[in-house]
Amino acid sequence: MAQTLDGQTVLVVGGAKNLGLAIATRAAELGAHVVIGARDGDAAVTAAAGLENARGISIDITDESSIAAAAAELGGVDHIVATAAAHHNVPVTALDHDKVVTAFEAKVIGPLMLAKHFAPAMPATGSIVLFSGVAAWKPAPGKAIMGITNGAVSFAVSHLAKELAPIRVNAISPGIIDSGTWDGMPESDRAALFDGVAGSIPARRVGTTADIVDAATWLLTAGFVSGETIHVEGGARSA
Ligand SMILES: NC(=O)c1ccc[n+]([C@@H]2O[C@H](COP(=O)([O-])OP(=O)(O)OC[C@H]3O[C@@H](n4cnc5c(N)ncnc54)[C@H](OP(=O)(O)O)[C@@H]3O)[C@@H](O)[C@H]2O)c1
Repeated sequence: MAQTLDGQTVLVVGGAKNLGLAIATRAAELGAHVVIGARDGDAAVTAAAGLENARGISIDITDESSIAAAAAELGGVDHIVATAAAHHNVPVTALDHDKVVTAFEAKVIGPLMLAKHFAPAMPATGSIVLFSGVAAWKPAPGKAIMGITNGAVSFAVSHLAKELAPIRVNAISPGIIDSGTWDGMPESDRAALFDGVAGSIPARRVGTTADIVDAATWLLTAGFVSGETIHVEGGARSA
């Protein structure tokens, strides 16, 4: 299958850093007109300035009015990738209602609002790629909200794929990926996490940004794939 996004518009919400920026960068290399969406509009513009044929726009995925404004400004886009997440990893007995809501807004409600406002102007060849995560399939104390929201993403894509057809809607479920998101951890803690994962999963390593970018660009161009969750986690569900 030819991997080209020549002349197609790809909106990446959460595109100013880490996996989102890497996907935006590959999309631009494949010929796309890239729109980087971030809740910090300046960060979006700065990130876009580093790419060919890209622009930045302010989008807060937890704010429907900002999604609607972006859809009105951009008009039709061919593809949407949404990487946003708002983690709330605490025991169930310590849950904060508003943080639970925000976690659902970032992963589930926000993508639904993206579909609501953008799908009417997307072409039949368009697609949406959402981000789930391995936590959905690995229940663990303190990870309930991460697991439930990621699980909801996987269900959401099958429902959206049916209703928005022929627009394709899919999800990527990453395992532990050295995407930059873990860089804020103390070095020794991060090394222990990565070593523990590498030692326990079939792939015997953590994931790379390239692993996810490859999957995302494949999904954007895989015209006979819809409603699926692609697990890019080195076999972690069986570990
Ligand atoms: N990396 C992993 O190990 C891993 C594992 C499993 C699943 N995943 C999933 O894969 C996705 C991408 O991972 P990542 O490592 O790139 O995560 P990340 O570093 O947390 O990046 C998330 C992106 O979403 C943006 N974002 C957060 N809230 C937003 C909002 N309200 N509106 C718009 N953008 C918002 C962030 O921008 P700000 O700068 O504004 O915060 C950031 O650009 C996430 O959904 C994550 O849950 C990752």
